Amino acid sequence: MAKGNSGLNAPCCRVCDGRLRVCVDFGSQALANALVAPGDDRREEFLYRLALGMCENCTLVQLVEEVPRGLMFRDDYPFYSSGSAVMAGHFAAVARRFLERELTGPDAFVVEIGSNDGIMLDTVRAAGVRHLGVDPSRRVCEVAAAKGVRHLNDFFEKSSAVEIAAAEGQADVIFSANTFSHLPYLDSVFEGITALLKPDGVFVFEDPYLGDIMERTSFDQIYDEHFYFFTARSARAMARRYGFELVDVEHLGVHGGEVRYTLTFAGSRRPGPAVAEMIAAEEAAGLHRPEVLAQFERRMQRTRDELLTLLRTLRDQGRTVMAYGATGKSTTVANYCGIGPDLVSCVIDNTPAKQGMLTPGTHIPIRSPQVFREAYPDYALLFAWNHAEEIMAKERGFTESGGQWILYIPQVHLV
Ligand code: SAM
Ligand code: TMP
Ligand code: ZN
Repeated sequence: MAKGNSGLNAPCCRVCDGRLRVCVDFGSQALANALVAPGDDRREEFLYRLALGMCENCTLVQLVEEVPRGLMFRDDYPFYSSGSAVMAGHFAAVARRFLERELTGPDAFVVEIGSNDGIMLDTVRAAGVRHLGVDPSRRVCEVAAAKGVRHLNDFFEKSSAVEIAAAEGQADVIFSANTFSHLPYLDSVFEGITALLKPDGVFVFEDPYLGDIMERTSFDQIYDEHFYFFTARSARAMARRYGFELVDVEHLGVHGGEVRYTLTFAGSRRPGPAVAEMIAAEEAAGLHRPEVLAQFERRMQRTRDELLTLLRTLRDQGRTVMAYGATGKSTTVANYCGIGPDLVSCVIDNTPAKQGMLTPGTHIPIRSPQVFREAYPDYALLFAWNHAEEIMAKERGFTESGGQWILYIPQVHLV
């Protein structure tokens, strides 16, 4: 097996240089979205050490090893945001809110970091408002371009942000969903935001929330792309370090629990009461303490053992099991728990670019929903549990025919 980035011997915080205390360790893992072509299944896969550390100074939870970004975000990056109708609705609402509140001036301008297939900016485009998406993954950008969404096929960082500011002027809004936590190189990113954002503009990002991950034991949120796991407290410390202030936080239900953080330049707007309220709740829950992560690690080990026991029992009883949703998260679950094609015959997914490929590390074939509907299995392991409502509604025929869903968040149970 190829060896990943060797990482840091004495890991330190990417924001404040504080010492990282390693808290949760998955060992060697495959890249979450590095799907394997069937003919390539004997080739060595890139492996890296997946472990979490908590900064002893600013409490930010982060990965201890950084994967080179070009290995994760490639031309053929297979995640297309618009595969979920619920997420399309979510981002249309995000865009409408910006249009009503922030993009009201005569030549308003919004930049999105990680615009993917244009799921958010398409609503901005339809409203005739100036916009630019930035995303390094070429194929997802091509889908955005086909919708008429303007984009730059590049990594957002200081150099690209300075170029955008010079060519297009400063932005009223910089938005980023499920991407800001993917960017270990924060010095460059914040220098870029500082150059590109108007003095009274807002930088808004939404990402999985450490509080939800601890509460639900959603250990599968931890993989190479998710470099940071913010709390309001650690996000505020980060903002201040780069000359910004955290002025608002909103808890979101999407993707298994996220928080939307609103930052402005320090002194530009007054923080609302939600910030102090969320930080107080985090302190009460002990989210700044390493013991909380140690307890989480014990719970996730229990989930692994119970899930594996269940799947082995079903196999020994001759029951058929498929999985549903070839998510990035499922790479952690399958590799950490040891779930391969012997326990799960295939993974169903509606993304054409994923169908026909094999899952990273575990090499389970990925098939279309048609395969599921043609011959329902006895059980379906719901890897895409964050889309449970949408998928269970779409696949009502499965439960009507006697099938049962297997879920493992917050613990192993059948539905
Ligand atoms: N915003 C979309 C959403 O919430 O569904 C897409 C999220 S997807 C998980 C992350 C996206 O970030 C990918 O399309 C990836 O190519 C992009 N990305 C990674 N690094 C980036 C960077 N430095 N600048 C801009 N986009 C980046
Ligand atoms: P995500 O959890 O990272 O958003 O990934 C969800 C995956 O599940 C993605 O590959 C698309 C797939 N999916 C389906 O196959 N059917 C669906 O109805 C939905 C919502 C997602
Ligand atoms: Zn720190």
